[in-house]
Amino acid sequence: MIADAKQIPLMRPKLPDAAQLMPYLREIDANRWYTNFGPLEQRLTGRFAAQFGVTGDQAVCLSNATTALSISLAALAGGDGRYCLMPSFTFVATAQAALAADLTPYFLDVDPATWRLDTDAVRDAITRLGSDVAAVMVVAPFGAPIDIAPWDRLTEETGVPVVIDTAAGFDSVVPGVSPAIVSLHATKPLAAGEGGLVISRDGDLIAEIKARANFGFHGQRSAVGPGGNAKLGEYAAAVALAALDQWAETRAGFARTTAAYVDAMNAVPALQLSPGFGDGWVSATCNVVFDAPTGETAIAVLEQAGIEARRWWNRGCHREPMFSEVDCDPLPVTEDMVDRMVGLPFGIDLLPADVRRIADALTAISMT
Ligand SMILES: Cc1ncc(COP(=O)(O)O)c(C=O)c1O
Repeated sequence: MIADAKQIPLMRPKLPDAAQLMPYLREIDANRWYTNFGPLEQRLTGRFAAQFGVTGDQAVCLSNATTALSISLAALAGGDGRYCLMPSFTFVATAQAALAADLTPYFLDVDPATWRLDTDAVRDAITRLGSDVAAVMVVAPFGAPIDIAPWDRLTEETGVPVVIDTAAGFDSVVPGVSPAIVSLHATKPLAAGEGGLVISRDGDLIAEIKARANFGFHGQRSAVGPGGNAKLGEYAAAVALAALDQWAETRAGFARTTAAYVDAMNAVPALQLSPGFGDGWVSATCNVVFDAPTGETAIAVLEQAGIEARRWWNRGCHREPMFSEVDCDPLPVTEDMVDRMVGLPFGIDLLPADVRRIADALTAISMT
């Protein structure tokens, strides 16, 4: 590492501070209602619903996105060990959520242009694998927008339900019928520390998910179906509400850093930003791919320059020890891409000078 160079961390999340939280904490003090879909959680759900253009019963806030994914899968298709088709190119939470819903991950390759599953390729896989397929989980990589309508049509045509993992998609998600799950983790655009949001235009499905997150209680305090505990407590709802109050500012910060990267990366040879990055939506990470498989070297060289970098999704779920034995299609696009890919420092207060320093280091890597 260069001794006098300032360290540039991969990420320094910025959640609401104590002063911003205080009015909500005082409300909790006054309410003496701490969880079980309390007043703050209900307000949060209402604000999310308004923001995404759905009704209050078409959204529910849960404890985190991984649990929200598995409950959504379980509500639609879980329980019999059949396949859940999904990309290997995702965070391992996607695959773990399928296991938790008693489904078996089956990895498909992604489209090199979009970095996500292609509807026609999934339709072909459903035809090939037949009744072994119980569900599909589609991932919107790193918060990129995803058109849910074609996935809703796929469900109508094939009867196979689809769950949309758009963990980083707070700024881009447009609800459909297939449930879309957004994470409120500290590393995500709208950060509450931990938390998850499920949105679907199917209010009955949201009611079922809500019941499964609350011991199987449907309205009354009596278990009428399977369930556990995945509720979002009032303190987490307070953080999320305060984060939502500041969203315009937070978003502007992410947009500034995004623009700085788009500008700086134009000048770096043999390197591309993730699909759609800078096209009017924001995320909380910045990922690039080199033309050649330099990912591992790049991380080491950046580290030497005091710049922290990471493969956010390691080298694909199929290479995680837990999932190395599961069935999958050939994954040439995923395997090629993960060897060329690097996640760079990102955040609302990353300085333009830092972005230029990162770009210079990347240029040096590209030229060697
Ligand atoms: C694609 C994807 N799915 C799911 C998750 C899990 O979200 P959470 O941490 O809220 O459980 C993440 C978190 O990073 C993710 O990137």
